[in-house]
Formats: sequence, C-alpha cells, structure tokens
Amino acid sequence: MEKMWAGRFAKALDKKADDFNSSLRFDYRMYAQDIKGSMMHAEMLARQGILPESDKDAIIDGLAGILADIESGKLTFDSDAEDIHMFIEAELTRRIGDAGKRLHTARSRNDQVAVDIRLYLRDEAETLVALVKELIVAVTDKAESSADIIAPGYTHLQRAQPISFGHQLMAYAMMLLRDIGRIEDATARMNAECPLGSCALAGTTYPTDRAYTAERLGFTGVSRNSIDGVSDRDFCLELMSAIAILMMHLSRFSEEIILWSSWEFKFIELDDSYTTGSSIMPQKKNPDMAELVRGKTGRVYGDLMALLTTLKGLPLAYNKDMQEDKEAIFDAVDTVKMCLEVFTPMIATMTVNGENTYRAAQKGFINATDLADYLTKKGMPFRAAYKIVGQIVGECVASGQVLDEYPLEKYKAHSALFEADLYKEISLENCVEKRGSMGGASPESVRAQIAWVRTQITE
Ligand code: ARG
Repeated sequence: MEKMWAGRFAKALDKKADDFNSSLRFDYRMYAQDIKGSMMHAEMLARQGILPESDKDAIIDGLAGILADIESGKLTFDSDAEDIHMFIEAELTRRIGDAGKRLHTARSRNDQVAVDIRLYLRDEAETLVALVKELIVAVTDKAESSADIIAPGYTHLQRAQPISFGHQLMAYAMMLLRDIGRIEDATARMNAECPLGSCALAGTTYPTDRAYTAERLGFTGVSRNSIDGVSDRDFCLELMSAIAILMMHLSRFSEEIILWSSWEFKFIELDDSYTTGSSIMPQKKNPDMAELVRGKTGRVYGDLMALLTTLKGLPLAYNKDMQEDKEAIFDAVDTVKMCLEVFTPMIATMTVNGENTYRAAQKGFINATDLADYLTKKGMPFRAAYKIVGQIVGECVASGQVLDEYPLEKYKAHSALFEADLYKEISLENCVEKRGSMGGASPESVRAQIAWVRTQITE
C-alpha cells in the first residue's frame, strides 16, 4: 500500500523498517473508538461548514459499513497499513472515494490517537470496576460465612492477637474499594479533557467546534492547550498506577492464600478447579492461580515502569516513542482482567477450616494483651501489667503451658488483682467478641463492615 505521506519521498520505506514502524498489530483493537471519533469529527466539520453535507453522509455511511464488516469478520486487519488510523482511512477512501480523503481535514493522527486511547481505556476501566466489584462480593460473602470463626491475627507473621477470620478477609474488601475509587478518579480525569482538535500540535486555522466533538464523544470538557493535548499520556499512567496498586493487593492476598493452603497452616482449602497437581509428586495440590497472580504483579509493575521511562525526557509535542504507550497499557489492563476473572471464583469456592484456625489461635499466647488489659482495667498502669504478663508468659513457655492452664495461685503470686474470672476474660471467644471498637476484630464489627461495604458497591 502506498503511504499516505508518500508525496515527499523518492523511495519507499524499507520492508523491515515498515514492519518496525507499524503499530497495527496491537492498535487494531481501537478500531471502534477510531471509527466513532472519525464519525463525530465528520459531523462537526459539516456543522461548521468545513465539509459538505453529502461528503459527511458518505463518510458516516462508509465508516458504519467498515465497523460492521470488522465486527462480522468480513474485513480483517491483514494489511501493511501503518496503524489503525491509516487502515481505516485507507479503507474508507477505497470504499467512498474523494469524500474519504476529506475526513482528515483539521485533524492529525496525533490528536486522533490521543482521543482513541482515552475512549478505549474508558470502556476498559468500566469493565475493571465491575470485575473488582464481583471480587468484593465474593470476599464479603466469604467474610460473612467466617465471621464467627476464630483465627490468629499476625504481625511479623508471628501470632499476635485473636480475630474473626472474616475480619482478615474484610481488610481486602477495604483495599479493593479504594482500588475502585482510584480507577474512577483516573477515569474522571481522562474524560475531562478531550484532545480532539489539537491537531498535529498547534490547533488549526479552520473554525472547528471542539466542545461539540468532546460532548458527542462523552467527554466532560476539552483540553486547553493543543501541545499538551497531543503530548499527554498521564491518563495512561494514572490508570496503570491504579492497576499496579490493585495488583499489589491481589498479590498480598495471593501470598496469604498460598500460606493458608499449605500443610503448615491449613486454614483454607482451595477448590480442585482452582488448583493443580504435580507431574511427579502424587500428593501435591498446588495453588498455581494465586502464585500466577502474585507473579503477574511484577509484570504489571513492569508495564507502568516501561511507560514512565518511555515518557521521561521526551520533548514536546508528539514523538514516535509514544506509540509504545499502547502495548504497556493494554498488557496491564489485559493482565489484571485475567487475574480477576480467576481470582474471584477461587475465593468464592475456597473453604475455611475453622478448627485449624482456632487451634492455631490457641497457641502463641495471643491472649496475652487481653491478660494485661485485665489488670489494667482493675487499675494497674498498662506498662506495669505488660511487665507482669511478660514474666508469666516466660514461665509458661518454660513449663510448656498456655495462659489458660496457668494456675490461679501462681497468677496471684504475681498480682493480688488476679481473680478466677481471669480465665473467662482471656478465653479466645471472649477476646474476639470484646474487640468491638469501631473497625475492630469482633464478629459484630465484621458484620457491620460487611453491611457498609455492601452499601458502597451498590451505590
Ligand atoms: N501509531 C501512532 C501512535 O500510536 C499514531 C500517531 C502517529 N503520528 C505521527 N505523527 N506519526 O502513536
């Protein structure tokens, strides 16, 4: 195919250079957005008297035909066109002749691509939010069914204090809610500045109506500087940052899933349909899905770093380096979507082993804080109580006992404030039940969190 810009060249582009230059193999996926942008551009040109009505009608019909043919598979991207913009324009001109050649009036591929990516990502962001919501539903449902399950809570991966297992799960629901907020923030800013009409970099001498195209394309405003309009890829970075943070959350969750499903923990059992076996060890049931999500997090961080690094040091306005934006953002979006589609049912189908979490909570002196609080509530300063309980824990460790088995006389020898009611006070059930402070680890608090999160995702 002869290049649209062939006019000033005496020789054709070298074949390898042509392949190297072409972005069609990855930007083809923006065909619907490119066509929509072109339709609105043509309408605007006609409204402004820049393009004859008859040409506009031919363009709109022609583009609609191209869209239908791509969607039905009749028209494929098997072409040596330089990118999706050239592909569609060439196909349009092939179909409708000279009117097709008038479409690119008062426009450049520089503003065209900037608008296409925004339109594409806007739809992807909506899908992402829906997928994260589905995961939140799965997590809250699982938290609801495990609200009364007692488990150890950890710091430094050391048993720390007893919690409702649902409380741990709801921590992830909170993270995921913030992820939705970040994706929505990024989308709102992406939609606030339509770059169409910035043209190559300096705007145009034609009397265009940028507000019209912006509105028709669903933007809430227009970009205010044509150089910025074509050079800005902040919106890609913002969405990728939001996705990178979301992946980090999925990765932390995955890490826990992997630990919890190990023989050392056995807090959960993953469903067979989300685990794999080993080719050599018959006993293995591996949490591959969680491991892959953890692994793919690195890949998504890489996508973000790749684009940040590509943009760093680029002079204004458009540079071909910027064509690298698409593979990075597409990969990040594709990857997180793929992860969520497997992660959500994996969570929904896992079972929590309450006996094992309870047994784990019985060890490790995780009610020691509650024993100190017992003394504190009877008037002893917390630091003094902390010291006494520390000594008792030391004695128990030496004698192989837990606090619940340590005899009352021995307690009394440490402080006269100890009474028989201490045993009820430090029972695991009591320790968890009592943690009813706002956002605390009690089953009741977990149920309140679940109710709140549910209102947030249905709003
Ligand atoms: N394929 C190009 C990209 O993705 C479109 C913009 C090309 N503009 C240009 N002046 N070469 O960035």
